[in-house]
Amino acid sequence: MKQKITIAIDGFSSTGKSTIAKQLAKNLGYIYVDTGAMYRAVTLYAMQQNYISDSHFNPEELVTNLYKISLSFKFNEELGFAEMYLNNTNVEATIRTIEVSRLVSKVATISEVRKKLVSEQQEMGKNKGIVMDGRDIGTVVFKNAELKLFMTASADKRATRRYKELLDRGDKVNYAEILHNVQERDRIDSTREDSPLVRADDAIEFDNSDMGLKEQFDRIMSLVNMRL
Ligand code: DC
Repeated sequence: MKQKITIAIDGFSSTGKSTIAKQLAKNLGYIYVDTGAMYRAVTLYAMQQNYISDSHFNPEELVTNLYKISLSFKFNEELGFAEMYLNNTNVEATIRTIEVSRLVSKVATISEVRKKLVSEQQEMGKNKGIVMDGRDIGTVVFKNAELKLFMTASADKRATRRYKELLDRGDKVNYAEILHNVQERDRIDSTREDSPLVRADDAIEFDNSDMGLKEQFDRIMSLVNMRL
């Protein structure tokens, strides 16, 4: 049997990390973990408890109550990927709304939140055979990952992708608002003190602004095969 490796995919929001990660995991028979979904689920909990809104944020209360948050992924056979559950409720659709997107970067700056999620992520990957995407996977969660990718694309391309995704879901969306959200998240994610979004020294950068999915997948699979 081939040895299993750890694949860490980081990059800016809406760079298509999860699409490529899902495809890789399926092809290799690996587990796929979308760590952004975990930060989004914690944000949803904070919104439900009124610890955060567009006009206020009470991080202390969130930190005090973090132990009440239980996150899990359950594989949905029909969809072919694992959906996010918050305290045993399926929140896969709710965590993708623009309301959550607006607040998630703020929640992700809180060190206690990061500590909890990073330790859960390390536990999920302890046996390798995992593709994990996020912002700090190659720099913090799996510093020794055999393959690290850093995905980039222009803000305009990314906002357009996100706009189409939300339209397809039937959400009412405004392109300017999405572009603003993408740029604002880039800024907060890259400048926060704890685990900012940076390319790990040994990560391979992938600008997919003008690259189709098939080309990306083929290129990345050849990198994977070199490491197996
Ligand atoms: O990948 P995403 O857009 O769903 O992530 C949502 C937010 O969560 C993103 O703006 C930053 C944060 N995040 C993070 O700080 N660390 C991760 N490993 C994954 C996401």
